[in-house]
Amino acid sequence: MTGISNKILLASVLGLLVALLVPHSHVENYMEMASRLLNLAPSSPSNYDPSSYEPIRLHVHMNGEYGRCHKSPYVLSTPLPISSRNYSFDSHLTDSLLSFPEIDSGCGPVVGEGTFKDFCDMGPEKTVILEDHDSLVPVPSTRTLPCSYYTREGRRITSLSNLIEFASLSSAPLDVYAVAAGRLFQFAPGKVGETFDLSHLPHPQGKKMYLETMSVSPKVFEIKNFFVEEEADDLIERAIGSSSKTHGLKRSTTGVDSEQDTNPIRTSENAFDTSGKSAMSLKKRCFKILGINPYKEDMADGLQVLRYNVSTAYKSHLDYLDMTPTSEHDFDSSRVGTNRFATILLYMSDFEPADGGETVFSYGEPYKSVKTPPTYLEALEEARAHSSLFKPNSWEEKMVAECRSQLSVSPKRARSVLFYSQHPDGRVDKRSKHGGCPVLTDEKVKWAANLWVWNGPRMGYSSAPLKHADKVKKGHKSEKKDRAQPPKGSIKVVFENKGKDPKFNGASLYYQETLWGDFGPGESHSVNSFQGHVWYVKGDNGEVLLTLVVGGGEGNQRFEV
Ligand SMILES: *[C@@H]1O[C@H](CO)[C@@H](O)[C@H](O)[C@H]1NC(C)=O
Ligand SMILES: *[C@@H]1O[C@H](CO)[C@@H](O)[C@H](O)[C@H]1NC(C)=O
Repeated sequence: MTGISNKILLASVLGLLVALLVPHSHVENYMEMASRLLNLAPSSPSNYDPSSYEPIRLHVHMNGEYGRCHKSPYVLSTPLPISSRNYSFDSHLTDSLLSFPEIDSGCGPVVGEGTFKDFCDMGPEKTVILEDHDSLVPVPSTRTLPCSYYTREGRRITSLSNLIEFASLSSAPLDVYAVAAGRLFQFAPGKVGETFDLSHLPHPQGKKMYLETMSVSPKVFEIKNFFVEEEADDLIERAIGSSSKTHGLKRSTTGVDSEQDTNPIRTSENAFDTSGKSAMSLKKRCFKILGINPYKEDMADGLQVLRYNVSTAYKSHLDYLDMTPTSEHDFDSSRVGTNRFATILLYMSDFEPADGGETVFSYGEPYKSVKTPPTYLEALEEARAHSSLFKPNSWEEKMVAECRSQLSVSPKRARSVLFYSQHPDGRVDKRSKHGGCPVLTDEKVKWAANLWVWNGPRMGYSSAPLKHADKVKKGHKSEKKDRAQPPKGSIKVVFENKGKDPKFNGASLYYQETLWGDFGPGESHSVNSFQGHVWYVKGDNGEVLLTLVVGGGEGNQRFEV
């Protein structure tokens, strides 16, 4: 038999199989079978041949957008290598979609001009360099970077069999969400109450996880069945039990450049849980929900556990860090910088509406449970009449009014909320402003926790984006005046464990309360730090073995053990 007749024979076998099997859920089996056949016949066709398949019909959305970006469904109609997986699949699918004029012209970038090609490849000025950047495979016809593709529920589509599997779940065209290179998937709700099934993700007690949309702009969701009471208790116990100077509960400080001073607009106490079993497992679960796989320690801050006693609150703010322009890190996530992308809030206490302590979204409409929400002024009057906790016109009192007139989430044990601080293209979403409402009862304490996920390597990581001095000078002059004290120039610091002292076997490196990475024998970390920054080397049990303070002066610094 010649190679050519082999090909024809195989193509018709594949066609027959797929026609029989696609309507059922045996697609995976079919693909396995097909790939076995292909392996046996090295000269066999390696391209997907649309004429021998049930048509695969797709509707493309741009990441985070509820509406589709083209009218008629696209019937997958160009050859696609059957064996392509992951990055190479992204590249071939992008190529295929580009061949459909409706998609190419309709699915261009939201801001500015261009076609679908320009949506997927935002260009060197706006493509964040993620860890897997070098694995991206350019699109064959354009040599530009490809999109990656997700289902509505945030499941990555990684191969043709994967695509067939998802497409076979419904007779309607498959809704596919295209995510630009260097960007992260974002859920795309169209209305309040809309749900997103997450039952493909494991739950500690086998329950079904799903999202329920609380607000479309800002994008806020309740994550149903995200965590369990045992985990809530564990987080509280660890926060109370921790006697650590860096990790234990204390009055909140300002955050990244934490000073001695406590924060006047944040009266809660906080602690960081960077290594507890529940904390780690919750962090990984957050990444799965967000469609980020695998988990990356350098894209999340430590899990922060918070305690709010009576009258304490956290004034409305953005989680996005609006840092001084002289800083060495590039926080501009609308370009190549990185910043906080999404926040997951966890509640560990049961509160009634009268107890306060809600999370309020300043730009969110009150949720459906509130029938006729009061106006801000009505709420302010009511707050004044019923509480002597706060001085008239204090920020806390105004906040109570805001909490009662806008979207607010009341704490319930094991309740959880997700919201985004960035738009899908990396621009900050100012509508994500939110706050911790004052606790109005002295009979309860509000326990909560939060996790911040970044859109790329977090500040200070060796792969994190650097702010170039020339850009700083040109772009941000006027902002400087508003800043109290810009930090001095950054200093490159190398930490190295040369393996000489067994005391440091199993050690970890911490920047303030945040785990930086393993610091066992042979490990080294090169970071951008600042004079006065405090780093810790901790042992197996979390005990501080070394405290390292970055000194002043020019040039690089080295710490060796
Ligand atoms: C594709 O990605 C998955 C999940 O990350 C990985 O397990 C698999 O090895 C990858 N396949 C290829 C061919 O790279
Ligand atoms: C908050 O309340 C707890 C007891 O419920 C108490 O131990 C703690 O000291 C209080 N914190 C502050 C800052 O008063």
